[in-house]
Amino acid sequence: MFPLHRGRRLRVNESIRNLVRETTLSPSDFMFPMFIAEGENYKVEIPSMPGIFRRSIDLTIEEIKELFALGIRAVNIYVKVDESLKDNTGKEAWNDNGLMQRAIREIKKACPEMIVMPDVALDPYSIYGHDGIIKNGDIANDETNEALVKMAVSHAKAGADFVAPSDMMDGRVLRLRQGLDAAGFQNVGIMSYSAKYASAFYGPFRDALDSAPKENEGDVADPVEVPKDKKTYQMDYANRIEAVKEALWDVEEGADMVMVKPGIAYLDIVREVKNAVNIPVTVFHVSGEYAMIKAAAEKGWLDHDKIMMEQLMCIKRAGASLISTYFAKEAAILLNK
Ligand code: PBG
Repeated sequence: MFPLHRGRRLRVNESIRNLVRETTLSPSDFMFPMFIAEGENYKVEIPSMPGIFRRSIDLTIEEIKELFALGIRAVNIYVKVDESLKDNTGKEAWNDNGLMQRAIREIKKACPEMIVMPDVALDPYSIYGHDGIIKNGDIANDETNEALVKMAVSHAKAGADFVAPSDMMDGRVLRLRQGLDAAGFQNVGIMSYSAKYASAFYGPFRDALDSAPKENEGDVADPVEVPKDKKTYQMDYANRIEAVKEALWDVEEGADMVMVKPGIAYLDIVREVKNAVNIPVTVFHVSGEYAMIKAAAEKGWLDHDKIMMEQLMCIKRAGASLISTYFAKEAAILLNK
């Protein structure tokens, strides 16, 4: 008998392929990252992210209602903070009436069933674009954690379902859990960016929020030496075992979900972390990954929809329970057809 095996029997037609498919995608697998700005009826496209906008709260709410109707059940939210509100302490981050806090309140009022996960990190509020407070030329870990706790508690007060620390400080998950519990927010979850790599794929995101690390422009009142990149807290992309270590620490500290970021170039990490933890793994398909597909499709070099669905499916296959992706809406529309 030759050949001994005929794997093609399970691929002969679409019906059989549907029967044996190991992974499926649905709109509730996605989280949509959204950029929020001050103002009213304001909507501006981000040049390096075609189809993605910075929106005022009112237009964000309209969009969220559409996302919900499409089956999307979670959004990550990020705010574009006015330059005049930024400093080295990031104190605007825990202003109970800040843009983020107002956005959370209004989104939860308009669409209570949408899971809202505000980003917890100081970079949009830092005059230097760093995720923490700078002291002696470095990010002051423990002091930054105390700031992040105030920030997370103020998000919880505003009605956040989850907080999503993306700062990569040591011990922040434990501090956030303790801080949230002490303030009476036992049911507010933590989705930790556990294995977040120092990646050039975040470029377009930093354009969106104007949050790229920047030098101290000779401020004599605050003569700090600013680290030129985020490599003392975000991970080295040459490392794999370290991701497992970081994820396990976060589980121990009380994270409800862990995240791996970026996505496509890091699927080995996703599988490794998935096999190591017993809580849901989220994957962030980041801004640069989105921009690459948009640019190639615009040139007519790749089929946009097919590449989008292939990448999302492969992220899920690698072990993602949830995918944070700027394609969430477009993919949900296709899946609903
Ligand atoms: C900041 C943060 C970043 C992203 C999410 N949260 C950028 C950074 O670390 O510089 C990137 C997301 C993306 O590229 O889509 N704490």
